Amino acid sequence: MNCMKSVIRGVARVPPALTRAVHSGIRSSSSAASKAEPDERPMTAEEVFAREERYGAHNYHPLPVALERGEGVHMWDLEGRRYFDFLSAFSSVNQGHCHPKIISALTAQASRLTLTSRAFYNDILGAYEQFITSLFGYDKVLPMNTGVEGGETACKLARKWAYTVKGVPKYEAKIVFAVGNYWGRTMAAISSSAERSILDGFGPYMPGFELVPYNDIATLEKALEDPNVAAFMVEPIQGDAGVVVPDAGYLTKVRELCTKHNVLFIADEVQTGLARTGRRLAVDHEAVRPDLVVLGKALSGGVYPVSAVLCDDEVMLTIKPGEYGSTYGGNPLACRVAIAALEVLEEENLAENADRMGQILRAELNKLPREIVSGVRGKGLLNAIIINETQDYDAWRVCLRLRDNGLLAKPTLHGDIIRLAPPLIIKEDEVRECVDIISRTVMSF
Ligand SMILES: Cc1ncc(COP(=O)(O)O)c(C=O)c1O
Repeated sequence: MNCMKSVIRGVARVPPALTRAVHSGIRSSSSAASKAEPDERPMTAEEVFAREERYGAHNYHPLPVALERGEGVHMWDLEGRRYFDFLSAFSSVNQGHCHPKIISALTAQASRLTLTSRAFYNDILGAYEQFITSLFGYDKVLPMNTGVEGGETACKLARKWAYTVKGVPKYEAKIVFAVGNYWGRTMAAISSSAERSILDGFGPYMPGFELVPYNDIATLEKALEDPNVAAFMVEPIQGDAGVVVPDAGYLTKVRELCTKHNVLFIADEVQTGLARTGRRLAVDHEAVRPDLVVLGKALSGGVYPVSAVLCDDEVMLTIKPGEYGSTYGGNPLACRVAIAALEVLEEENLAENADRMGQILRAELNKLPREIVSGVRGKGLLNAIIINETQDYDAWRVCLRLRDNGLLAKPTLHGDIIRLAPPLIIKEDEVRECVDIISRTVMSF
């Protein structure tokens, strides 16, 4: 009771002006705007930018647009301007913004049971585990929250398997990665990077990680001959490196080499998976089966952080109770949302649509003038254009003008490349409208 009183008193002591400032930001939709009182006017975009700049860490450089609503392939800014979303929150919103089935799963479960921790059983986790393992054809799943935790989990499983199954001497296990990989920003994830902007200032780095060039089978083979190698972790298409598509047959060769040298093949499908490239998984293009698959992002359709690692018992059962976990991993809300998100991908044939729409998009983008757009690449709806930068224009300025013309996209880590990855529910007339926007924008330089 005392505790309750102090909470109530605490709230009462929040200065009214601060409460108003916070809520005017939240309630700045057009309907709220019409009801706004003089001291509750909606925030302007400039005020939104300034507030984040003032109170938030400066670890991102967002495109200046202040969004407040999303539905399907569109998002709306504070002034009610509508944009096509060509980023999909880095391929998280594959099912489209606020998909009704996913939101309804979220809200139904939110008022029933959200978090039990794994200290107890709950009635949804097993259903989700059964669903996702049968869909992807693996013995077991380990549920996590973010993509980077999925990658971390895969690395831990690989190390444990190396010591307990492969027979690598204790703490000498190595994991091989490809140059250009990106799997997040934790200490482990950056330790596998070759990118100065990711590494600088954060050492010392995690030992036991090695790099080989991407799409280079000969060098990979040499690396895998080392008997202490536990795993090769690779993206089937390197997303953040700028949508780098390897040669046809690369993944098949990776599979063969990993099998030959008793090394685990870990496919990081956090960005490429879940229908994004026109198949349920990007490895399906070559019909190869990795030993471990890491999923994230679209596993919740963009409404909640959900990630997962799939593999068979030989690897998964090397980790025993008490050796690994996460308070939120596998919570009922996440599981319910993930089942709905996966069902949407299947029921709406989103892989097939991504495949078809991607072909139309690339065919049209390839008609753009080569002096400005020097390359177009991708698979399904994970695509990129390469801007031939000059003093007059660069990828950032192209993105600003795309925004002005009603389409949101962002340069990748390599500044001259713009990723084009709309929600997979996009229709042909919308693709053509977007190509028109991109074309008009490019021609205006
Ligand atoms: C291939 C890949 N793996 C892992 C991650 C990390 O995911 P998260 O940002 O959810 O931790 C990303 C994020 O962009 C990614 O593209």
